[in-house]
Parts: sequence; C-alpha cells; structure tokens
Amino acid sequence: MLRCRLIPSAVVTVVLLQGVAMVLMFGWYGRLMPSESTAPRGKVHVLLLSSWRSGSSFLGQVFSQHPNVFYLMEPGWHVWTTLRQPGARALRMALRDLMRSIFQCDLSVLEAYTPDQRNVSHLFMWSQSRALCSPPACPLTPRHSLSDEAECRRHCNIRGLQKAEEACHSYSHVVLKEVRFFELESLYPLLRDPTIDLRIIHLIRDPRAVARSRGQAIRSLLRDSALVLEKGDKPVTDSDLHVLQEVCRSHVRIYETAMLKPPDFLRGRYKMVRYEDMVRDPLAEVEDLYKFVDLEMTPQLQDWIYKVTHGKGKGSRNEAFKITSRNAEDVSQAWRTTLPHSMVQRIQQVCKGAMSLLGYQLVDSEKEQKRLDLDLVASRKRHHFSWLPSKTTQLPMW
Ligand SMILES: *[C@@H]1O[C@H](CO)[C@@H](O)[C@H](O)[C@H]1NC(C)=O
Repeated sequence: MLRCRLIPSAVVTVVLLQGVAMVLMFGWYGRLMPSESTAPRGKVHVLLLSSWRSGSSFLGQVFSQHPNVFYLMEPGWHVWTTLRQPGARALRMALRDLMRSIFQCDLSVLEAYTPDQRNVSHLFMWSQSRALCSPPACPLTPRHSLSDEAECRRHCNIRGLQKAEEACHSYSHVVLKEVRFFELESLYPLLRDPTIDLRIIHLIRDPRAVARSRGQAIRSLLRDSALVLEKGDKPVTDSDLHVLQEVCRSHVRIYETAMLKPPDFLRGRYKMVRYEDMVRDPLAEVEDLYKFVDLEMTPQLQDWIYKVTHGKGKGSRNEAFKITSRNAEDVSQAWRTTLPHSMVQRIQQVCKGAMSLLGYQLVDSEKEQKRLDLDLVASRKRHHFSWLPSKTTQLPMW
C-alpha cells in the first residue's frame, strides 16, 4: 500500500525535476550560444600572445602563410610608438580596443596612428602579412601560394587601407601577434564579446635563450624596454634584466590566470606553447595549433614548415626568418655555449618562478650549462597546457 501511494508522487517529482532540468539546460544553451548566431560568418579571431625575441616571428609566419588567414604583426607597435607615456599599464586598453577593431576588420582605427596620406606600407611590418600581398589587397601572390616578403615590398605598397580592409573581410581567420600584453584581464571584454570568437595562443621561451637573443638586439629594444618599466621617454640603460623579470612575471600571471582559475569565458580559449617544443617537433606542434583554431594543415605548408625549421631550402630568401639558414633546434640551445655562467645565474634568479612553472630546468654549474646532452626542457607529457577545444567544454551538461 505504502509503495503504491509513493509511486505517483515520485513520478510527479521526476517529471518536475526533468522540467527544471530542461529549463536550466535551455537557459545555459541560450547563454552560451549567442556567438553562434551573431558572429559574422563564424570568423575565428586568434591572438598570438608572446614577448620580444621568443620566436614569435616564426609563429606569426606559420599563420600568415595559411591561405585562410588575414594576419597583422604587432599592431600594438603603433599604440606604443605614438602614445608612449608612461608605459604598458596605461596603454593596454588602447591596445585592446585597437585589436577589437582590427578583429572586426575596421582598419580606420589605424588612422589615428598613421599619416593622413597613408599607404599600406605605413602598417608596421606589413609585408610580413601574406594577405596584404594577395588579392584583393594586391594582385601579386595567389592566395594559395607562399608569399615572398621582398617581392611584396616592391609591388604591394598600395595607397590607402581600403584594400587591406576588404582583404580582411574575405578571410575566415583574423590573426594578430602581440608582444605588449602582460596580463589577460584587459582582454576579458574581447572574450565576452559575442561578435568575437577569440582564441589565445601564448608562446613562451626559455628566458636564458631570450636573454641571449635580447643581448644581440639590445639597442633596438630600448624604447620598448622603457615602457615595460613604466618609464616613458626617460632613458633606460642596463635594465635588461629588469625587463626580463617583468616578462617572466607576466608569463606566470597569464598562465596562472588561464590554467589555475580561469573564468568560464576563458575555458577552451587559451593554449600555451613553448618555443622549444615547436622547434623539436614543428609539424606536430603547428598541426596542434591549427586544430585549436580550426585551420587545416596543407601539404604545401607542411613542406614549408619542415624546410624553414631545418635550415635547408628556399625559405632563406625570406629575411624575416632568423632561423631559416640554421637548424632551429641548434639555435634554441645556443645560449648554453655563449652566455657566461654568471649571467645565466642572474637570469635564473629573476625568472626562477616562471622557469619551474613552465618546465625549464635550472643549471647549477657552468659544467651543467655546457653539457648539451643534459635536456633542460621538461617533457611535454608532464605539462599539459591546454583545455579541450571550446566546443566540448561549452556544453558541460551534454
Ligand atoms: C604610396 O603608394 C603609391 C602607389 O600606390 C606610391 O606611388 C607612393 O610612392 C607611396 N607612398 C609612400 C609614402 O609609400
């Protein structure tokens, strides 16, 4: 008897619960899916977030040469060189808003930073962008061909930015490379914007290798260094270790925000990649990154990536590639034989936290430093850097 009376109420409860679950599910669905309907033609927006001398030119080219990508290298350069005072902290919002406009293919925002009579050559490192060397921006390079920077510089310096804007609209992916962000929070409005489908690829590199590379380019980095240290136009000298320290701190900050306590809208939208892993197995790494942003690998790109990372082939015509004529893996180890051990110790001191978090082993002696058979980059297996792609994580109830 008791059992019989309980059954109807149990059924009612189950039905009620189901109803509640349905309402909740559709609520979730409605909240999570608006980007599907409002994002224009499902464009994907990619931010290559890196730092100076970390191999980001190469990573940028990996995307720029892809036939579906409209790429611009460091549009933030315009903000930093025009506004300057006092430094990175104040300028990050202007930089963020500049990126938002460019992601939406509104290049008029660049009018604030270029002369009145502007050509596409007024865009920083414009000829690094294959899309600016291809139709509709320029007739030179067919969209499915690899771009030659020198040729592009000669033939594609078109008047005005209208053609570039038209080009931007014609691609499924807009990719921007930036080295001027030191945290992720200022990007939150972009991540929440339903018209922008943002994926962030965070490229890092062993700070000891970065230091060596910075040492070779120290003069050209001085003006940027002043802004990193919030010193505006004041001269900074002998401050490179401080800059490196800021860069290391920013890696920790960004990585921890994205991996340890990510807000919902960041999940599935962040991926960390180490330069050392890229040069060790470039094809697998690039394929992984393409997958993360919904791009397909092509045989032509595969071939090209192999050549530019193995120091043979025609890639060397392209001056932008510092790694073309040498073996990329040798270059990434060069600091071990060229940096004085005292310098290595100082770098390790200021970057200790970042290095242990990101899997770079410290060396305790000059002997260890020079023993190239000692692998100082912890295996990737122990460092799983990314969340699953967004599609699966967006609908946790299914
Ligand atoms: C701008 O482009 C035009 C041709 O499109 C060229 O004649 C002119 O010299 C260029 N100006 C600058 C400043 O590059």
